[in-house]
Amino acid sequence: MNLNTIYTGDCIELMPSLVEPNSVDMIFADPPYNLSGKKLDLVNNTTGGAYHKVNAKWDVFTATDYLEFTQQWMSLCHTALKDGGSLYISCTQHNIGEILTTGKSLGLKLNNVITWYKTNAMPNITKRTFTHSTEFVCWFVNGHNWTFNYSAVKQLNPHKTKDGQNKQMRDFLDFIELPVVQGKERIKGEDNRAAHPTQKPVRLLQIIIAASTNEGDIVLDPFFGTGTTGFVAKSMGRNWIGIEKDPHYAQIAHQRIFAQ
Ligand SMILES: C[S@@+](CC[C@H](N)C(=O)[O-])C[C@H]1O[C@@H](n2cnc3c(N)ncnc32)[C@H](O)[C@@H]1O
Repeated sequence: MNLNTIYTGDCIELMPSLVEPNSVDMIFADPPYNLSGKKLDLVNNTTGGAYHKVNAKWDVFTATDYLEFTQQWMSLCHTALKDGGSLYISCTQHNIGEILTTGKSLGLKLNNVITWYKTNAMPNITKRTFTHSTEFVCWFVNGHNWTFNYSAVKQLNPHKTKDGQNKQMRDFLDFIELPVVQGKERIKGEDNRAAHPTQKPVRLLQIIIAASTNEGDIVLDPFFGTGTTGFVAKSMGRNWIGIEKDPHYAQIAHQRIFAQ
């Protein structure tokens, strides 16, 4: 396994030979949510701005296949984790059930379900449900000796005291307010539209990596996309490994990380 490297391919096929058992300190997995192909297109959506619907081939499964897929990759992640390692998985209401059930059956301990409140969530044009404005990050740990860098997380607390100091951790909840990636942070394609539909915020990864790793640790992301995990891990002095099935996204991630 080479550190600080992007591997192009299917994580379920690559991980058994690529990643040694008990070798990784933290995993951030942002898997397909199985949202696509369900009439989610926004008709005449030409914004190219903050609103991006996921409608991608890599995101289409039957319910049975999706559960099996989740069990396969989560089991491989479990094998890869060191004792005390952390597995963070991003999800929504659509796939949190499969993730929580699988985590429990693997014997992983669930420490938090962090809610990411998307401050610029897509407006609800259907007028038939409450507006979806949240995603979740499930934090599982392997065993009881997990890392939680209290002081480092406190430094990232967005809430300040009147004199500008970082507030105590009791004000830094399992509820994080962040916009969907937009502006300069959003990677654009040649058509000036989002290069990837689900690019995660740098700030979200900064908080997670600060909380659960130390300098020199190894962070794995089996669904690398635009490489947000590697980009942040590198900037924080951590080692990283990315696996991404789509060569085009792998190339975008490569440029992003190695241009840093
Ligand atoms: C939700 S996106 C991840 C986005 C990423 N967190 C970012 O910030 O850009 C999921 C990614 O996983 C990739 N993917 C889907 N199935 C995969 C598989 N079996 N193995 C590796 N990558 C896969 C997709 O091509 C997609 O880029």
